[in-house]
Amino acid sequence: MLAVAILAAGKGTRMKSELPKVLQPLAGATLVERVLASCSQLQPERRLLIVGHQAERVEQSLAAQQGLEFVLQQPQNGTGHAVQQLLEPLADFDGELLVLNGDVPLLREQTIADLLERHRTSGAAVTLLTARLSDPTGYGRVFADASGQVSAIVEHRDCSEAQRRNNLTNAGIYCFNWRKLAEVLPPPTTDNDQGELYLTDTVAMLSPAMHQEVADADEINGINDRLQLAQCEAVIQDRLRRHWMAEGVTFVDPASCTLSDGTRFGRDVLVEPQCHFRGNTVVGDGCRIGPGSLLENARIGERVEITYSVVREATVAADCAIGPFAQLRPGAELASGCRVGNFVEIKKAQIGAGSKVNHLSYIGDAELGENVNVGAGTITANYDGVNKHRTVIGAGSKTGANSVLVAPISLGANVTVGAGSTLTKDVPSGALALGRAKQLVKENWQAPT
Ligand code: UD1
Ligand code: CA
Repeated sequence: MLAVAILAAGKGTRMKSELPKVLQPLAGATLVERVLASCSQLQPERRLLIVGHQAERVEQSLAAQQGLEFVLQQPQNGTGHAVQQLLEPLADFDGELLVLNGDVPLLREQTIADLLERHRTSGAAVTLLTARLSDPTGYGRVFADASGQVSAIVEHRDCSEAQRRNNLTNAGIYCFNWRKLAEVLPPPTTDNDQGELYLTDTVAMLSPAMHQEVADADEINGINDRLQLAQCEAVIQDRLRRHWMAEGVTFVDPASCTLSDGTRFGRDVLVEPQCHFRGNTVVGDGCRIGPGSLLENARIGERVEITYSVVREATVAADCAIGPFAQLRPGAELASGCRVGNFVEIKKAQIGAGSKVNHLSYIGDAELGENVNVGAGTITANYDGVNKHRTVIGAGSKTGANSVLVAPISLGANVTVGAGSTLTKDVPSGALALGRAKQLVKENWQAPT
């Protein structure tokens, strides 16, 4: 039997934030979401989250998580006090308790699985994860012999000068035999610099206590302040880019681009500098994205080119060209071979295959057939101040420059709209529609004197 407990009750004073620390975002997910994800493959029987500071807010943010038990720690008197709160909910539990610090978000699933495996085979009372850090400032130091047996953990602030030279660092990740840990809870003393009950003090009371060193020290990075948050973001971004480069994506300037866990790329995608991919964005084979583009929950087909543009919650089929300086907003759906040019905004609109919206347009709440040519400056006037209305343009139609289509309005197939028209009525297929004042010319006209 396995139970996982995540310590997430702390305020995170050093973040200087309104947000509880575990809700700080990292590459599109909160710290606590990342910690939860890092142990999901273990399929524990119980999952408990210890909450305290802004407990309701933390609980709300995780409302969608199935089977997560929230345990309140009030007040927050240290990590040992936090785990002490488990005595009641785990009164009848017998098995391993994996304790994860809620602010250590870079652990790989495999690392945690290995720690558990090692703990189970060695029969230790506790096995904790360690790393040798070149700069262990701020972390607890682990004192262990050559066989890996731990005698004590001393917090940085409680260490002597000599003890600080030990760079074997406590990750804040522990696998306990729960029954044995329960016997020594609460920790015996608050006699430390912070006057708190430290979980780390229980380790010296359990025998044998073993540690397992992780090869990639980045994994145990804890986040206490904004600098560490940025450093962890850099580690995640580096991991994601390396992964996709190995899968056949070219990044011209990798460090200038950011990805999310949910981003997916096909083969031979070329990502130019300063592109950002968020949410569950999918980019098809052979695309060229960037420079300077933002894609969020976008679905991009094969061989699409996107230059200096923003695409959010929108779908673009194969062989389209977007930008420079276009914005595809939620519900924009482009069929194959479309062109969307500079200063064009498209929202909640289906654009038929081969259609062109090349310059200075707003197309919202609309449906365009195939091979429509939207002239420069054409606007769908979709909003009457209260409601939104639809515009329909049939296949092969052309709108002249600066047309305003006042919705609801429907243009048939192969319609031509004269430049500068403001249309308020439907136009049948094959017609020419003009809706503008006749031009007046007064010859030999002289200005009044
Ligand atoms: C802790 C460890 C330290 C280790 C480091 C790794 C202790 C005493 N020290 O130090 O050895 O090197 O993590 O990152 O455990 N929390 C609660 N309730 C509390 C206090 C904290 O739930 O009363 C939670 C926090 O929200 C946080 C985690 O426990 O997610 C760790 O607390 P933090 O104060 O950041 O501990 P560190 O000083 O980093
Ligand atoms: Ca910490």
